[in-house]
Amino acid sequence: MMPLWAVIFIAAAGILLGLKLLYAASIAGLLPVTRGALFVSTGLPRIKEFLDAVPMKPGHCPIDLGCGDGRVLRAAVRRYGVKALGFEINPMAYLAARILCAGRKGVRVRYGNFWNMDLSGGDVVFCYLFPDLMERLGGKLMAELHEGSRVVSCNFSLPGWKPICIRRPVSVRHGDPIYIYQIPDSLPSPDATSEPRPRPALSQRILSRSDHGRT
Ligand SMILES: C[S@@+](CC[C@H](N)C(=O)[O-])C[C@H]1O[C@@H](n2cnc3c(N)ncnc32)[C@H](O)[C@@H]1O
Repeated sequence: MMPLWAVIFIAAAGILLGLKLLYAASIAGLLPVTRGALFVSTGLPRIKEFLDAVPMKPGHCPIDLGCGDGRVLRAAVRRYGVKALGFEINPMAYLAARILCAGRKGVRVRYGNFWNMDLSGGDVVFCYLFPDLMERLGGKLMAELHEGSRVVSCNFSLPGWKPICIRRPVSVRHGDPIYIYQIPDSLPSPDATSEPRPRPALSQRILSRSDHGRT
């Protein structure tokens, strides 16, 4: 007869292994969409740096594209009293976010692929994704966000965009760059010689959304 401690140990090891396998399977299944943007949370010093650099007002809506366990949303609501929205496609991360954000007023977490979501209500868009996605993401943000919206990208810059500032927390473990951008009131010209184009009104942008190559 096996001692009780051994039974508990084997059961705990089995549950841990099961969770790890589930995590690996969920990541592998989502790779075509997420590329390499795995469920890795932003460190708290980096979230603080982001919130220090990007002030918000209570009416603002920050959006986290791939919100993981929802920590960025919770921190933004706690600091600025905003109504924050997160999209998450990994079922385990989504479940963690729903549990950790349960009962938090002002935090909404939606399950799904942010490429299919309308981001036009975002006053601040936060992301910590993967280099392969950034060029396409830049196109979506430029097409959908309103003038003055701020975009914050941890670690990876948006190709062709000029940051208004780059912050680096003073920390060995958390010192990677945080790129901060602001949506201008005109779109960059398709070639360097012509004038910048004025941004179309939001209603026009919503009407022409079917052109934006959704997946
Ligand atoms: C590096 S984690 C960042 C998590 C969180 N934003 C944070 O900073 O703590 C990236 C997250 O984005 C999610 N993700 C990647 N592509 C996505 C997509 N197309 N739609 C929704 N979530 C996505 C991944 O599942 C992962 O949880």
